Amino acid sequence: MTDDHGDLDTYLERTAAKRLDDYFAFLRIPSISALTEHEDDVRAAARFVADHLRESGIENVEVSETGGHPVVYGDWLHAADAPTVVVYGHYDVQPVDPLELWLRPPFEPSVEGDRVYARGAADDKGQIHLHLWAARAWLAVRGHLPVNVRYVFEGEEESGSVNLDRWLEANVHRLRGDLAVISDTSFFEGNLPAITVGLRGLMYAQIDVTGPKLDLHSGSYGGAVQNPANALVQILGGLKAPDGRVEIPGFYDDVAELTPQERTHLARIPFDEDAFRVGIGVPALFGEPGYTVTERRGARPTLDINGIWGGFQGEGSKTIIPSSAHAKISCRLVPNQEPDVIFERLRERVSELAPPGVNVSLRLHSGGRPSVTPIDHPATQTAARCVLEVFGQEPLYVRSGGSIPVAASFESIAGLPVVLLGFANPDDQAHAPNENMRLDNYEGGLRTIVRYWSALAVLRPVAA
Ligand code: BES
Ligand code: MN
Ligand code: MN
Repeated sequence: MTDDHGDLDTYLERTAAKRLDDYFAFLRIPSISALTEHEDDVRAAARFVADHLRESGIENVEVSETGGHPVVYGDWLHAADAPTVVVYGHYDVQPVDPLELWLRPPFEPSVEGDRVYARGAADDKGQIHLHLWAARAWLAVRGHLPVNVRYVFEGEEESGSVNLDRWLEANVHRLRGDLAVISDTSFFEGNLPAITVGLRGLMYAQIDVTGPKLDLHSGSYGGAVQNPANALVQILGGLKAPDGRVEIPGFYDDVAELTPQERTHLARIPFDEDAFRVGIGVPALFGEPGYTVTERRGARPTLDINGIWGGFQGEGSKTIIPSSAHAKISCRLVPNQEPDVIFERLRERVSELAPPGVNVSLRLHSGGRPSVTPIDHPATQTAARCVLEVFGQEPLYVRSGGSIPVAASFESIAGLPVVLLGFANPDDQAHAPNENMRLDNYEGGLRTIVRYWSALAVLRPVAA
């Protein structure tokens, strides 16, 4: 069976201006999941997605409660004998600070050159939007979809998906299918088309060090009490060796070492270290000895301080011993590390390093397991063919350093193989000021998904 999709392409060309307006309307909703003052905005974004699905003819659309921000569910299950795809994306976005570095307000989208600028343009509203319009195109032009689809759009990915697993467990009947497609990743450096085949996990924690019940005069008390800020840096300094290795006993115990074949594969990915370095503006790259930059970013675990505060930060000087000091730290995890186990090992290490004279507490903020998806799965190979057809280039298979906890959950809770089919440009500035999405990636992504649904329909059986 051949399908040139000419009628669908014509529809997409005809609707280009309207789609851009609609994309902008979605981006204007400040759905920042981490900030309680945006709770109503997150719900407004959920409603936007739900209404969109309904208007296209997707059925059983529901804004479904999770205890936190809702999941938007909808399905279309009339493609008899064709596979069922569970589609995932997240409609929440990251906070926007530092606001002063944005060239345009983050929730007033604009096109500059060949890119759309706004918070969420790429991560991940833009990519949800591709799925909304792929469905709309099929249903408007052909009156049906070639595959069965179930949409699961989340609203708290950027704040750790804390309620999602419970929702997935309670809704396994809505996850019955043959595979999950997650569109929340990007192409490789140089905007080379890529399919992601591995994601790192995450363990995110906070350390609070408390000392005297109030800030003390550092002259009257200095020398007589432990300083919480000094204690904190002592602890943090003991977590990582100067060469970049993590110094937590047992941290590397469960790490699956790269096989020689995997290393060969990763070495073949074209990577310009110097361009990468210049692009991020650092004098030198840095990381764990014995591994290439590509290996360090995708297949090795890390520990980073995400934020550190305490004591005097104002203008001039103030001579105090602060009463407390704090840090947020996170570890990127690789197979077969478990976030809970890593948290326990961190706890042991922190108590070993904690100096006398202060109270040190450690709490787990959120966690997510790593995942690796097989390159040779027929659904992955089919996706690759569609990417080639649209972008004119064979996609690279890359392991991404980012985390999408739901990938591991789809496998463990619903038994679904996962295809990470994402289209963001690697210089999208996700989580940073001036987030953007290239319009050629957007338009190509849409056409790829439109074709992927037909290609999956004739691929049977989908499960290897
Ligand atoms: N879309 C990203 C994940 C991602 C980042 C994939 C980079 C590929 C490359 C996702 O929205 C995200 O930011 N995830 C968080 C984890 C979450 C638990 C807060 C992350 O990776 O920091
Ligand atoms: Mn994302
Ligand atoms: Mn993100």
